Amino acid sequence: MTVDLKLKGPLRGDIEVPPDKSISHRAALFGSIAEGQSIIDNYLMARDPLATLKALRSLGVNIGVEGKRVTIEGVGLQGLKEPEDVINCENSGTTMRLLSGLLAAQPFFSVLTGDHSLRKRPMDRVIIPLRMMGASLYARRGDSLPPVAIKGGALKGISYICPQASAQVKTAIILAGLYAQGETTVVEPYRSRDHTEKMLQAMGADLRVEGTAVRVRSVKKLDPIEMIVPGDFSSAAFFVVAALVVPGSDVMIRSVGVNPTRTGLLDILVRMGGEVDLMNIREAGGEPVADIHVKYRGPLRATEITPEEVPKCIDEFPILTVAATQAEGVTSVRGAQELRVKESDRIATMVAELRKMGVEVEEYSDGLSIKGPARLRGGALKTYNDHRVAMALAIASLLTDEGVRLEETSSVEVSFPGFFDLLNSLCLKN
Ligand code: S3P
Repeated sequence: MTVDLKLKGPLRGDIEVPPDKSISHRAALFGSIAEGQSIIDNYLMARDPLATLKALRSLGVNIGVEGKRVTIEGVGLQGLKEPEDVINCENSGTTMRLLSGLLAAQPFFSVLTGDHSLRKRPMDRVIIPLRMMGASLYARRGDSLPPVAIKGGALKGISYICPQASAQVKTAIILAGLYAQGETTVVEPYRSRDHTEKMLQAMGADLRVEGTAVRVRSVKKLDPIEMIVPGDFSSAAFFVVAALVVPGSDVMIRSVGVNPTRTGLLDILVRMGGEVDLMNIREAGGEPVADIHVKYRGPLRATEITPEEVPKCIDEFPILTVAATQAEGVTSVRGAQELRVKESDRIATMVAELRKMGVEVEEYSDGLSIKGPARLRGGALKTYNDHRVAMALAIASLLTDEGVRLEETSSVEVSFPGFFDLLNSLCLKN
């Protein structure tokens, strides 16, 4: 669907954003192998987490959905059933990689596939360690691209040093580790998001975190969970940046998850001179939650984003580049090669579209640099079927005089149904 955006700021209002995608996937997956009923309130009813629910149903799990409340009848660690058909993970890398870990430990055969974009994303990063644990996994192109065929079985613990900081790979190995004989250790170069560790510990898993290492041992059972999923910081990020770059903006975003392994963007924006207040900080479902107040205060300053910071803002890169176009000086991001294997090659896609808008951008194999402040030029832009690219460009449109035509926007349904209506409502309150 093509969308013409001719919106003007400032943005003003008091909003909520959709529930957290990462936490929704995990609550459904882990609840399915717990013993007893799990209740997940405020589950993200968007394409990616719905693909996870469908996959779990095909593995024999009874799941009820009433509004945004999901009730899962956990089948226990040994209760999953062989699926009758190929499991379609659609656009969701999290579904495919996390399920690979779980299915590697099941005594049956399963096949995972996905849409055009997911079938281009690397799965060798989970296949290699899961094979080391004793499972059989095969895939296209030298066992790297989906579909992935899995014959699971008895596993042994391994100690694995991950080449990349990836919560998906880490979680796949931890899930297999729940079933393995002996201890499984996974070490990352930098710490990625830790929702898995927090949730599994709360469910009674034998799991310890030591620096960038996570150690797990098998247990007889996992306890069910009851939780309210907080708002997704990665969805809030679009409005946080919008309010900091569009003069006169003042936005309150309620009940957002502010786990420090996710909020690297806030540290970067504050360094750039942005003012962001976290208010009413509390805990929900073992995760820190806050209301985020953002007010335009003036122009931003450029900054350097280091490799160590990248995992904490990995999904915020497209919207961070929009902030960089409005900052005085050269903003650079290095050590971000992982961005090349997201829903699109997010370095190439943002470089191409920002150049079309008249921004001076230099591309590196592992990042980019952007010279600001730039006056953005509107016109027709491509979204590459990538939800976060589409939403970042929609925010960029607020900085143009002409407006922007986005050629394809249905990808937004993957994580943020209602995004365009919410953006409209914030601009209409002028
Ligand atoms: C996710 C981990 C990250 C992130 C993705 C969600 C997760 O991917 O980009 O959107 O829920 O574990 P990687 O593990 O590939 O870094």
